[in-house]
Amino acid sequence: MLKIGIIGAGSRGIGCFGKLVTGRDDAEVTALADPNSARMEAAARMLGRKMNFYTSVEEMLKNEHLDGVVITSPDYTHQENALLAIKYGVHVLVDKPLATTAAGCERIIRAARKKNLEVSVGFNLRHAPVLMKIKDLIDSGAIGNLMLIENREFYDGGRTYMSRWNRKYEWSGGLWVHKGSHDFDIFNWWNSSGTPVRVSAFAGVNALRPEGIPFDIDKDKPVGPICSQCAYKKACPDAVPEAARGSLFGAEAVEVDGYVRDKCLFLSDKDTHDNGVAIVEYDNNVRASHIECFICNFTDRRYTIIGDRGIITASLETPKSVTLSPRWGDEDHIIHVPPAPEGGHGGADPGLVARFIECLKTGNLSSSTGRDGIRSVAVGEAAEKSWREHRMVEISELADLNDPVLQSI
Ligand SMILES: NC(=O)c1ccc[n+]([C@@H]2O[C@H](COP(=O)([O-])OP(=O)(O)OC[C@H]3O[C@@H](n4cnc5c(N)ncnc54)[C@H](O)[C@@H]3O)[C@@H](O)[C@H]2O)c1
Repeated sequence: MLKIGIIGAGSRGIGCFGKLVTGRDDAEVTALADPNSARMEAAARMLGRKMNFYTSVEEMLKNEHLDGVVITSPDYTHQENALLAIKYGVHVLVDKPLATTAAGCERIIRAARKKNLEVSVGFNLRHAPVLMKIKDLIDSGAIGNLMLIENREFYDGGRTYMSRWNRKYEWSGGLWVHKGSHDFDIFNWWNSSGTPVRVSAFAGVNALRPEGIPFDIDKDKPVGPICSQCAYKKACPDAVPEAARGSLFGAEAVEVDGYVRDKCLFLSDKDTHDNGVAIVEYDNNVRASHIECFICNFTDRRYTIIGDRGIITASLETPKSVTLSPRWGDEDHIIHVPPAPEGGHGGADPGLVARFIECLKTGNLSSSTGRDGIRSVAVGEAAEKSWREHRMVEISELADLNDPVLQSI
């Protein structure tokens, strides 16, 4: 049995990785590290297993003999936690983003390389059947030479990005890093012979601001500060639902660290966007554009991938098929996609965990590595700089992605 430690016992650490590892017969979660002991206790109850708890990551690494750790603490802590695990000689799976800056990713990769350790990154979308099918079609030449990729992402969970730590640039690296790194990774993966070179992005907050409050306010009754205490919690169509707060974030855990997940998304101190568009140029004459919209009543990613011999169109959420429209000829080809396995993110999460465990057992590289982590963060960081500084940003300002060490793991 492989022994796995989880750093950051929150929704992703326990609700995804904890459950998936616990459900396997070749690995077990033996330790948790999280500053919040009440949350770790709730986590162990949720997983129905005994495990050791540490409020210090370093203490866990010193005392446990772990085969690997999964890092699911907030984004701004990834670098420090990954470097600690590497210092103690443990392989890491860091949930996306690898770090909040390309420089942070570079430090992790260089440290792991020196110790010959694996760095896997939580790019679960690479395991989504519809996106794997598109990858096969591109690689098999079905649309000729790739020219242009477009993804329009709609997320009806945008409130979660505005009501907790994700809302702050200093904690998440901004949403082009925190959320966009998933999507930039898919662009990089599909366009595997290219390296991203420059990014232009525009973004802003149009709806989730005080002027956007969608109900009448009584001047004697202020709005907020958190949905569960707000006088308008019934009237507000965007109130964070009670259920979204979850059992790991109950009163006992809040008492320890004051971490609430339902800050008013109209009034909070957020400095990340609620919509935007980013355009990426690659060194192989390929371009990609990505729209992020957190103001909508549905969740989907809708893709158009254009080559000089045809166009692929697909949706992530209705993944029964992918449409291939050849450049010449009137007939579209409908290509069926196998049903997704059970599990989070359209069955992608179990695939990610399976590859990490396989990587620990065999030493074969994981499906997404440090190289992929830094490439996607570099694009996200460039997009953040671009919209904040109103300019096009060269990736070379942030990292030399062609440096052999940054491509080696
Ligand atoms: N791959 C995906 O699809 C996906 C989806 C959601 C979140 N994520 C990523 O997973 C990570 C966790 O997100 P979440 O939504 O589970 O957050 P969360 O807020 O639910 O949980 C974070 C946990 O980390 C703990 N923590 C805080 N500081 C810490 C530190 N210095 N060391 C260790 N633990 C610390 C908190 O107490 C909390 O229990 C983030 O990096 C996020 O970007 C990935």
